Amino acid sequence: MARDFALTPKQIQSKYLYDALGSSLFESICRLPWYRIARAESRLLTRWADEMVGPVEDPVTLLELGCGSGEKVALLAEALRSRRRHVAIHLIDISPTALELSERTLGALEHVSVVGHRATYEEGLRRAARERPPLGGLLVLFLGSNIGNFDPPASHEFLCEIRRAQRPGDALLLGADLVKPVKELLLAYNDPLGITAAFNKNLLVRMNRELGANFDLSSFEHSAIWNPDERRVEMHLISMREQTVRIPRADVSVRFGKGESIWTESSYKYEPRGIVELVSAAGFRSHAQWMDPDAGFALTLFLAG
Ligand code: TRP
Repeated sequence: MARDFALTPKQIQSKYLYDALGSSLFESICRLPWYRIARAESRLLTRWADEMVGPVEDPVTLLELGCGSGEKVALLAEALRSRRRHVAIHLIDISPTALELSERTLGALEHVSVVGHRATYEEGLRRAARERPPLGGLLVLFLGSNIGNFDPPASHEFLCEIRRAQRPGDALLLGADLVKPVKELLLAYNDPLGITAAFNKNLLVRMNRELGANFDLSSFEHSAIWNPDERRVEMHLISMREQTVRIPRADVSVRFGKGESIWTESSYKYEPRGIVELVSAAGFRSHAQWMDPDAGFALTLFLAG
């Protein structure tokens, strides 16, 4: 977890945000009035679910990368009910809390079977691709603004990995947050209630608990900045003073200068056409795009070519 403290700037990989507390803080973020994409996405899924599952052949396998609470995949599974065929759902998440919550949400649906994989995206993709039936289509869901947490080379590589786990005719439904006024973007990542700050700082709480570290929480501040050249919001934890932190179970001491940051996540923002170009370069063709102009959010359906 502390491996990337040797880099300049210091970093922590964002997958560590999602322990039990982190997952529930993120669920709370999704309810904040300033983080509008979660609700925008639910509206799009509710309105267009039939069209989204339309091109996928029966029997359908749904696979969600980072399932959160399972409510989104439930909307699509619900749309498949009228086809009167069994639906297999694979949930991939590194958070056991997210898997439990999703399994509970989906447990109410009779026509589905659910397999939870506590795994990274890459490992989960491989497992689900191995376990899927020989017939029927696989719809991979990569929702929210998860793609935005990869830098451009990594997102290309990851999309290629999804494509390699698929067969021609399979599909990918991709969520992406759009470029919008800076003030709106920053409010989404630095909310006035401080939930996002708590979510980010929980990384330090986690290192204190799991690695025996002695981070003083009051001497680090959450910060979100817009980087216009890279078109991304960057999340940082800034050390408010010079200090040295011991991390016994990683066997290191880390020095922080005053104002020095730990870069914890980036969230890239896209133009609608840019999404199509990015995903097409990985061997997909775009089938349809749905947008919520108020929140500035898009869902795009791609078919594996
Ligand atoms: N994937 C989410 C996003 O980029 C995660 C997120 C929301 C996040 N708020 C955050 C990550 C604050 C770190 C800090 O929108």
